[in-house]
Amino acid sequence: MIALNVNGQPKQVDVEPDTPLLWVLRDSLELTGTKYGCGVAQCGACTVHLDGRRVNACLVLAASADGHEVTTIEGLAAGDELSTVQRAFIDHDGFQCGFCTPGQVMSAVALIKEGHAGSDAEIREWMSGNLCRCSAYPQIVEAVKAAAAAGDAV
Ligand code: FES
Ligand code: FES
Repeated sequence: MIALNVNGQPKQVDVEPDTPLLWVLRDSLELTGTKYGCGVAQCGACTVHLDGRRVNACLVLAASADGHEVTTIEGLAAGDELSTVQRAFIDHDGFQCGFCTPGQVMSAVALIKEGHAGSDAEIREWMSGNLCRCSAYPQIVEAVKAAAAAGDAV
């Protein structure tokens, strides 16, 4: 049994020692915004924040997150009010199919907070762990720039 704080709420989950955090979020807690793409830390679709730092949830063992804070894409909006980064992705068409988008948004939030949104090249470098099969990369950069300029890194 592990205890997590997920999106500000305490959760207790019974897990196997080798269960990735991704499956606890998606299957046990029904937070299906976090996506499964590759399962081997190659695509970024499963990006969440663990104690404020981005991680690939497919790679992190749930047991190792015991006692820690997890933020998923569901934790960004305030009710029906989208966060700044979420709104920027919509305003700048930062997606096509949308499958990679939760991971892209979680990475974007982190890199803005980390101060890595200083130029297009820097944004591309720090977003490089998040793949987009629809190749929405130019629009994603525009969305990240706009969100960073808004000065509200959520
Ligand atoms: S599903 Fe985790 S990086 Fe691809
Ligand atoms: S929007 Fe389709 S994979 Fe990125």
